[in-house]
Amino acid sequence: MPPLRATAIAHPNIALIKYWGNRDDALRLPAAGSLSVNLAELETVTTVEFDAALTDDMVTVDGSAQADAVCQRVSAHLDLVRNQAGLKLRARVCSRNNFPMSAGLASSASAFAALTLAGAQAAGLSLTPQALSALARRGSGSACRSIPGGFVEWEAGSEDRDSFAFSIAPPQHWALVDVIALVSRSPKAVGSAEGHTLARTSPLHAAYLASAPGRLQRCRAALLNRDFALLADAVEADSNLMHAVMMTSAPPLFYWEPDTLRVMKAVRAWREAGLAVCYTVDAGPNVHCLCPTGAAAEVARRLSADLGVSQVLTATPGGGARLTDTPID
Ligand code: PMV
Repeated sequence: MPPLRATAIAHPNIALIKYWGNRDDALRLPAAGSLSVNLAELETVTTVEFDAALTDDMVTVDGSAQADAVCQRVSAHLDLVRNQAGLKLRARVCSRNNFPMSAGLASSASAFAALTLAGAQAAGLSLTPQALSALARRGSGSACRSIPGGFVEWEAGSEDRDSFAFSIAPPQHWALVDVIALVSRSPKAVGSAEGHTLARTSPLHAAYLASAPGRLQRCRAALLNRDFALLADAVEADSNLMHAVMMTSAPPLFYWEPDTLRVMKAVRAWREAGLAVCYTVDAGPNVHCLCPTGAAAEVARRLSADLGVSQVLTATPGGGARLTDTPID
């Protein structure tokens, strides 16, 4: 008999080399590889409990029962777990985030990583780390990168089984800090699942994909050699190109707010004046300012005092998804 109940913790990850566009939308097989780092201070905790008394899956996030669209996406993911485990029971899913959802902080990555680990454990599945990462990918592509710890690479792969993420360096490899300028807390209008399907409508997507392996290689080398100048160059180029694809898709997606660009320009000016910091922006308006630990307090101070950013979060490299004994009620 499987345990039927389990709880898992997962961190979101910030992509240094982004994933934008699929070669297979249904399987969420990406068109290119990507690189990320998990964010230790931000987390999602999820309890999954299979229960014979339930007739439907029930999903609560941060204390609120979720609307049909969220429940359907969670149910579809649990169906993958149930099919593998030969289990028919419906589940109660209870999840908590310690950061705002759907605001470009990759809550879907930590959400589906935690759901996958808790669901697989509760259903009695015994999966390799690679299989767990590939399964998390089916819920939200970037979730596969929140299964392993530290600095992570997702190799695009060519089919369901070989498209998974793995750690290229542990969290303590490089004391980088992500100083996040929260420009807006409102949920984004177009989610990334829909965005991925629009990527191929941009005339720039082919150029983005053709140049992606080179940027990934430069970024991987920068990470492994702790070369901040090279990292800054690859990370900013990749973020800018992804947003160029977004802005030129049909319909266009504009995730930036005026304050997003203001922070990006300030970060570049600060770096030119000698402060080690670079930016990257996901599918939302918030700006992730990456810097070595020694620069983090100054970056946070300038964001608040000089640019008037009202909320600044800081996060350091984090570990992989893990089980915990403490359930969410
Ligand atoms: O995993 P998704 O479908 O939420 O897509 C993630 C998209 C970006 O955050 C913009 C880039 C990335 O690689 O995380």
